[in-house]
This record gives sequence, C-alpha cells and structure tokens, in this order.
Amino acid sequence: MFYATLKALHLLSIIFWVGGMAFAHFCLRPAVVSLEPPVRLGLMHEILRRFFAVVAASIAITLISGLGMMAIFSSSAAQSGVTLKMPIGWMVMATLGILMMALFGHIRFVLFKRLRLAVRENKWTAAAAALASIRTWVRANLAIGIVVVIVAAGAGY
Ligand code: HEM
Repeated sequence: MFYATLKALHLLSIIFWVGGMAFAHFCLRPAVVSLEPPVRLGLMHEILRRFFAVVAASIAITLISGLGMMAIFSSSAAQSGVTLKMPIGWMVMATLGILMMALFGHIRFVLFKRLRLAVRENKWTAAAAALASIRTWVRANLAIGIVVVIVAAGAGY
C-alpha cells in the first residue's frame, strides 16, 4: 500500500516535469515566437519562473519516492533472505534521473538567473541568448526523460 502510494507520487511528479517540458517545447514556444522580444522574453521569464518552481517540487518528490521504493525493495529482500539484485532498469533510471536533476540545476541556477538579470535590465539580446540556451538544455532533458520513461516502463527490466 505504501509502495503503491510512493509509485503514484513518483509517476505524478514525472508527468508534471516531463509533460511540462513537452508542452513548453511543442506548444508554448511556437505560439510566442512571433511576439516582440520585450513581450516574449518578459512572458517567457514569468512562465519559466513558475514552471521551474513546479519542477523543483517534482524533483524532490521523484527523488524521495524513488529512493523510498528502492529502500522498501531492499528491506523486503533482506527480510526474506533473498540475495538482493536491483533491476538494471532501476539503476539506469536512477542514474539518468540524477543527470536530469543536475541539468535542471544548471538551467535554473545559471541560465535562468542570466535570463532574469537580462530581462530586469532590458538587455533583450542577452535575454534572448539566455532563453535559447535554456531551450537547448530543456530539449536535452526532455529527450533523456523520454528515454527514462521507456526504460522504466519495462524495456530494461
Ligand atoms: C533518482 C531518481 C529515480 C529513482 C531512484 C527512481 C526509482 C524508481 C523505482 C524504485 C521505481 C519502482 C519500479 C517498480 O515498482 O517496478 C520507479 C518507477 C518508475 N520511474 Fe523512477 N526513479 C527515478 C527517476 C525517474 C525519472 C527521472 C523518471 C522519468 C523521467 C522515472 C520514471 C519512472 C516510471 C515511468 C516508473 C514506473 C515504471 C513501471 O512500473 O512500469 N523515474 N522509479
């Protein structure tokens, strides 16, 4: 029951994070690309500020629930005297998950900070460059996220 709750939280947090990146990439960006730079960059800054807060919460839930499920798995294996063998798919998921989290850290604390300062000082060329870098790394994280979901859904178990 507790394991099932952790798994539901894990999946919901992944849906918010990966789904949000897909929405930004496939729907939001094409819709705002024709706006004037000051409007577009100001709007994107406000949208990303909110989205990144949601992602930070999703990451915390993903990590706690994922490690929690691993801990339950390990302790029930130990209790039943079975030799512990973590599924390879879990190890791939955890490794790529940590890579995604590190990339998010770079996006949020380096690139987004650059965007925020440039928008605040009305430096639209610098703001556009920062947003372009954010887009590149969000795209990379989206691609890794899709691979992780495919691995987690069974391909690597
Ligand atoms: C450090 C990070 C992570 C850890 C420790 C972790 C750990 C786990 C564990 C232990 C399960 C339970 C699997 C089962 O009961 O069969 C699970 C399920 C799952 N995880 Fe993760 N995970 C992490 C990150 C991620 C990320 C980043 C994604 C996707 C982008 C992801 C997607 C999934 C999915 C889709 C499942 C459900 C698999 C299924 O039951 O078919 N996880 N995760």
